[in-house]
Amino acid sequence: MDLSVPTTVDPSALREVAEQVALEAGRLIVQERPRDLGVAETKTSATDVVTVMDQRSQDLLLTRLGELRPDDGFHGEERGGRVGTSGISWVVDPIDGTVNYLYGIPAYAVSVAAVVGDPTTPGAWRPVAGAVVNPVTGECFTAALDAGAHRAVDSGPRRALRVPDAPLGLSLCGTGFGYDPDRRRWQGEVLARVVPEVRDIRRIGSAALDLCRIADGSLDVYYERGLNPWDMAAGWLVATEAGGLVTDLEGGHPSTAMTIAGGPGNHADLRALLTGVLARVGPEKDH
Ligand code: IPD
Ligand code: CA
Ligand code: CA
Repeated sequence: MDLSVPTTVDPSALREVAEQVALEAGRLIVQERPRDLGVAETKTSATDVVTVMDQRSQDLLLTRLGELRPDDGFHGEERGGRVGTSGISWVVDPIDGTVNYLYGIPAYAVSVAAVVGDPTTPGAWRPVAGAVVNPVTGECFTAALDAGAHRAVDSGPRRALRVPDAPLGLSLCGTGFGYDPDRRRWQGEVLARVVPEVRDIRRIGSAALDLCRIADGSLDVYYERGLNPWDMAAGWLVATEAGGLVTDLEGGHPSTAMTIAGGPGNHADLRALLTGVLARVGPEKDH
C-alpha cells in the first residue's frame, strides 16, 4: 500500500491548520460549556456518552476545515463527514476525554490530524501533521512529519519534545479502558498482570493526551486496546516525531486491536510483556 506523502503536500502548513482549528474548538468547548451540561445521547454503552458540545466542536472543525482546506476529506468521531479529492483527510476527535469534560476534570483535548490514505480502512492511513490541545491547561502539542514535535502553553514559546528513556521496570505506564463491560473485564485482567512489572499505572482518561505525554515524558509507556483513528491519529505523530515508537502488538501500525507507545529503551520490552500477558489471559471474547 502506497502511503507516501504527495510532493504537493507540506506537512508544516497542515500542522498550522491543525493547530489553528484545534485551538478554536478548544475555546468553544470551554467558553460555551453549558452550566447544566448533561448527556445528550449514549453510543456503545450507557457510559459511552456524547454531550451537546462534542457535536458542536465537531461541527466547528468540519466547517473551518471546509473553509481552509476545501478539497480534503473529513473523518470525525461524531455525526458528519466528507470525502475529499486532495489525498489528505482530517481525522478529528472533537473532545477526547468526554467523561473528564462531563465531570470538570481538566484532562480532555481536541485532537486534529491530517492523514494520507483512507482513515476508514484499518492500516491504510498514516498521520502527516497534527495538534492536540488541552484548552484548560493551555497545552498545545503539535507535530509535522519529519519536522519534529513541539509543546507550547498558551502563547508561550514552542519547545521541541524529545522522548526520555526509562527501563520498563521504572516506567510510569498509561492505559485506558473501553466502554463495553466485557472489554473492560478483559482489560482489567491484562492490567493486573502489567502493574507488577512497571513503576505504576495511570488511567488519565484521554488517549490523545496520553500519547502526547509519551513525547514530553509525563508518561514513559502507554498501551490500550480499542482505540479508534480519531483517538490516536494526532498523538501518534506527536509521539513518533519526538523519537518515540507507536505500534501494534506485532510492531506494525497501531490499531484498534492494540496501541503500544514508548521510547527506544522500553517499547520492545512492553510489547514482549503484553505478548506474554495476552497469551496467558486469552482472547477478549472468552471473558
Ligand atoms: C476515550 C478516551 C479514553 C480511552 C477510550 C476513548 P472519548 O475517548 O480517549 O482515555 O480510554 O478508549 O474512547 O470517548 O473520551 O472521546
Ligand atoms: Ca476519544
Ligand atoms: Ca470523543
